[in-house]
Amino acid sequence: MNQHLTIVDHPLVQHKLTGMRDETTSTHHFRQLMREASQLLAYEITRNLAMTTRCITTPMQVMDAPVVAGKKMALISILRAGNGLLDGVLDLVPAARVGFVGLYRDEATLRPVKYYFKVPNNLEERLVIAVDPMLATGNSSVAAIDMLKEAGATNIRFLCLLAAPEGVARMKEAHPDVPIVTASLDECLNEHGYIVPGLGDAGDRMFGTR
Ligand code: URA
Repeated sequence: MNQHLTIVDHPLVQHKLTGMRDETTSTHHFRQLMREASQLLAYEITRNLAMTTRCITTPMQVMDAPVVAGKKMALISILRAGNGLLDGVLDLVPAARVGFVGLYRDEATLRPVKYYFKVPNNLEERLVIAVDPMLATGNSSVAAIDMLKEAGATNIRFLCLLAAPEGVARMKEAHPDVPIVTASLDECLNEHGYIVPGLGDAGDRMFGTR
């Protein structure tokens, strides 16, 4: 991908996003919409995958038919909200390997601290798609991508549902080589670091916690 930020303005994505933003949407429906939206975002983030051909025989004739060239892909969920995007992406790329990055914020230093890191091997040979629904301050996304690069990843893309300008700027500064695909670039962050107008706490909305 050659654009740093891609906003997917497809009507179905925008329609589903509005359902997710609506505070009256139930947990069950929110999760379902998240899965559907992530399928459409996955379609966009994989749009320019390298292709090759495979010789097949149709009922009519032999042909060299297009197939995706590099089968090695790793999906990395940034816990816990990233898990909401995982299944929808896996619906489209079921052969992908899956990894998890868990981070919490140290309240003294305000810096993200790793508590869990388990990723597929040979990351350097894979297209790595890191998923987290909300790109807010960008602190955890930048830290997660730092860790993926330390683990060998060189070809990384970032998939989110909503982005704040602050998070996009932070990612662009720290990781200009990582393209971002999102459904919306919202207005700003509020004083608590939530995206406005946003959809609230994505993890709470999808898992029914508070
Ligand atoms: N994380 C969320 O879940 N929501 C926000 O608005 C920002 C970060």
